[in-house]
Amino acid sequence: MILIPNVRLATAADASAIAQMSREFIEQGLGWSWTPARVLNAIHDRSTNVAVIHDHGAVLAFGIMQYGDEKAHLSLLSVRLAQRKRGLGALLLSWLEKCAVTAGIQRIQLEARSDNPVAIAFYRSQGYRLTGTVAGYYQGVVDAVRFEKKLMAEAGETGA
Ligand SMILES: CC(C)(COP(=O)(O)OP(=O)(O)OC[C@H]1O[C@@H](n2cnc3c(N)ncnc32)[C@H](O)[C@@H]1OP(=O)(O)O)[C@@H](O)C(=O)NCCC(=O)NCCS
Repeated sequence: MILIPNVRLATAADASAIAQMSREFIEQGLGWSWTPARVLNAIHDRSTNVAVIHDHGAVLAFGIMQYGDEKAHLSLLSVRLAQRKRGLGALLLSWLEKCAVTAGIQRIQLEARSDNPVAIAFYRSQGYRLTGTVAGYYQGVVDAVRFEKKLMAEAGETGA
């Protein structure tokens, strides 16, 4: 069967699946911070987009991005194991980025676990630039690498 990926905003019914995926694929070895209640708060937060790719009600991938005035922050992004390397992560990230562009946001920042080479390769492939490291960023246990992507040239810049 050919799956045509469909991105939409999450609803309350997706909160539990998203939280479980966060625990399994992102927060492994750490305390569970993205609980169903926290994900539900994000779904209801007007300055946050929780986006999912789904298939017949099952969440295959999700991303959570918070939008400020000039910057957005990607908190989480994950694709189910069996669905990886098929472009779903890139599709979801691009959908969240387009929302940021529409909102006039100039840059996106995110952190990834320094022990996650796949995530680091993924964000590099999507045009994100490494800007630094943060020791103990994840619950004092795991270091983070910080990435940034400029969405549009700021005043005075050429965009080159
Ligand atoms: C990181 C993640 C979201 C990528 O999702 P995905 O749907 O598999 O990625 P895509 O298929 O869109 O890949 C886009 C590009 O990323 C890079 N990439 C993806 N997976 C990779 C891997 N295992 N090794 C090296 N590069 C990889 C490639 O450049 C790829 O382009 P290509 O297919 O033309 O080679 C996914 O691996 C995942 O959910 N990991 C667990 C959770 C996580 O680490 N989240 C990120 C931190 S919050």
